[in-house]
Amino acid sequence: MELKDRVILITGASSGIGKAVALALSHGHNRIAIFARRQELLLNVAESIRKNGSEALSIVGDALDEKQAADAVHEAAQRFGRIDMALLNIGIGPSLDIARAVPDDIKQNMRINYDTMINFFCPLVQQLKKQESGGIIANTNSLAGFLGLPSQGHYSASKAACRMFLDTARIELKQYNIRVLTICPGFVVTERNKHQGIPHSLTMTLDEAARHILNALKSERKEYLFPNHLKTAVMLPKFLPRSATERLLSRFSHS
Ligand SMILES: NC(=O)c1ccc[n+]([C@@H]2O[C@H](COP(=O)([O-])OP(=O)(O)OC[C@H]3O[C@@H](n4cnc5c(N)ncnc54)[C@H](OP(=O)(O)O)[C@@H]3O)[C@@H](O)[C@H]2O)c1
Repeated sequence: MELKDRVILITGASSGIGKAVALALSHGHNRIAIFARRQELLLNVAESIRKNGSEALSIVGDALDEKQAADAVHEAAQRFGRIDMALLNIGIGPSLDIARAVPDDIKQNMRINYDTMINFFCPLVQQLKKQESGGIIANTNSLAGFLGLPSQGHYSASKAACRMFLDTARIELKQYNIRVLTICPGFVVTERNKHQGIPHSLTMTLDEAARHILNALKSERKEYLFPNHLKTAVMLPKFLPRSATERLLSRFSHS
């Protein structure tokens, strides 16, 4: 889809990747609805979007609340008349030591990464089904969703769950011209993770990530993994014995 003169909803747009994508799209005379909890940050993003020549609608809310998510979809559609594309981007991945975890440490990640996506996904489907041109629903997934990464077990599980759900949705929603995209970045340096000590050679900047995500949205590739060298690395275990994969991955373990 050409990324010009479109109505686009981005969740988790107050910081990090969501903000970077919103700003990158703001150069295309788009109408962009942005959603997150931190009002002040969201208003700053909205102001930058307008300065770059697009329209902005900031919607403050908690995506864990089904109604707030549904209301946000409704508000964006009411204001702009339709929704051409949504990037469901909310997610967190704090380190987790399974030996010390209580159930809620693990389940909270599934709630933030999976449940919030679903809370937006269902009302978006109802909106896009009404539109003759259908539309795109994309998820900021992760390369971590392909591997059980040490200290990221809860995160890998939640991203794999999103990916599996979207694989089915893609098949079922094709008849409505709703295109479902799974976008899987490797490590991206953000405010949140810049002190986590991830080796520089494994990371990319927010601008690089935003460029890839715009490519993914434009090309409508069903599953878009980047950067290439890490994409190859996460696919490698498919061809290795499990014990060899575990030996390799244990190098990333904190303990
Ligand atoms: N950074 C990476 O290396 C990397 C790599 C691969 C994939 N990803 C994925 O990229 C996405 C964005 O991550 P990021 O690194 O850019 O992190 P980030 O800067 O922490 O952004 C997360 C966004 O989600 C919003 N959010 C969190 N909980 C929310 C809730 N309950 N309701 C509404 N908004 C909520 C946050 O806004 P508020 O706090 O204002 O609500 C923020 O805008 C995530 O899905 C992540 O898994 C990141």
